[in-house]
Amino acid sequence: MRSPYEELRLAFGDATVPYLYGTGCTPALAGTIVERLADVDAVLFVADDGVRGHADAVAAELGRRVRVERVQVEAAERHKTLPTVQHLLETAVARRLTRRSAVVAMGGGTVGNIAGLAAALLFRGTRLVHLPTTPVAAFDATVSLKQGVNLSTGKNLAGTYFVPALIACDLAWLATVPRHDLLTGLAEMVKNVLVAAPGLDDKLTRALDDLTSEPQAALRALLEIGVEAKAPYVAADPREQGGALIFEYGHTAGHAIEFVSGGQIRHGEAVAWGMLIAAEVARRRHGLAADDVAAHHRLVSLLDLPDAAARLDGLDRDAIRGVLAVDNKRGYGPCAAGEVLMVLLDTIGRAVPGLTGGPPLVPVAVAAVMDAFETVAMNALEAV
Ligand SMILES: NC(=O)c1ccc[n+]([C@@H]2O[C@H](COP(=O)([O-])OP(=O)(O)OC[C@H]3O[C@@H](n4cnc5c(N)ncnc54)[C@H](O)[C@@H]3O)[C@@H](O)[C@H]2O)c1
Repeated sequence: MRSPYEELRLAFGDATVPYLYGTGCTPALAGTIVERLADVDAVLFVADDGVRGHADAVAAELGRRVRVERVQVEAAERHKTLPTVQHLLETAVARRLTRRSAVVAMGGGTVGNIAGLAAALLFRGTRLVHLPTTPVAAFDATVSLKQGVNLSTGKNLAGTYFVPALIACDLAWLATVPRHDLLTGLAEMVKNVLVAAPGLDDKLTRALDDLTSEPQAALRALLEIGVEAKAPYVAADPREQGGALIFEYGHTAGHAIEFVSGGQIRHGEAVAWGMLIAAEVARRRHGLAADDVAAHHRLVSLLDLPDAAARLDGLDRDAIRGVLAVDNKRGYGPCAAGEVLMVLLDTIGRAVPGLTGGPPLVPVAVAAVMDAFETVAMNALEAV
């Protein structure tokens, strides 16, 4: 009999993580999760508040097979903090989880990161299962070992790397993501095409076109784009501290925008603006060709972003400078005071090499990033 889901295997250095995915396969996935967690005695089921319906179905299926201790988490950047992680750890201990137990994280990237860090810390590491429910989580965040939370000064400043036991996604869970969030979440796929897989441009454009008419086929294609583009890099560089840093494209200005907006501008949208800002910086400094800048605008315009001025004008410029000053890539390469390290492209699909032959990051004056920010904030998105 045909399996109700497909299985990919993601390599992270020497580790291999199964990724199970399909459509309408929740009961089968739940059964397999418990089977693969050999000898599991209980599950801390960390569920995103935004997916209660899907989480009820998973909890019921898991609960037939193993003791389930459920905790709800509100997926908001202000809760992506060490106190939330501590709350999960205290709850796990109070509810008698043991070293044979597992953490099952169901939700978007925010809950995945919070629960992922908790799993890495509980008893110095318990088994972790990711059940991603947003495009960012399903097609990008889980194709990464990074687990991190925010500090009061900036995003993802505290965390670790942790290999999950399993990733499983019923693409039907993504059907409830509001259209704006679905599209902006796909900014990470635009990024993959721009930095690593220009050959997937047509496949991405088609999938974005088909999202309304054939959503499940489109989501499958998007998952493939996420994995195909990123998998070879994280296989060779599982800590994303070398070549895989290219996937930080758009994230320098993007993280600052996301953080300063207080999460109002979600991660994907912020990265989309961040990529346009990076393209503007690269146009001025590295001669990124007009066609390549236009390709950025064309792909980003497929995400149906709101007007740039309406989104970016109100953001506190000093606060953005402040976040750029503590960007979490500092230390990966030479970078003077008043500069920030960025991934820049000199052509689509090729990052500007790092100064010392190290990671593909170049120091850019914060003032130059802010100039590019103003250019992007002033201009309507050029649909080409
Ligand atoms: N390598 C990594 O670990 C990595 C990579 C990319 C992003 N991230 C992190 O992921 C976070 C962003 O994740 P995100 O974009 O998934 O947003 P999110 O997790 O903040 O979720 C956004 C909203 O969508 C809701 N939601 C989740 N699934 C839903 C569904 N199926 N239907 C309806 N609503 C749903 C959530 O409750 C929340 O209100 C950021 O904190 C970012 O730093 C991490």
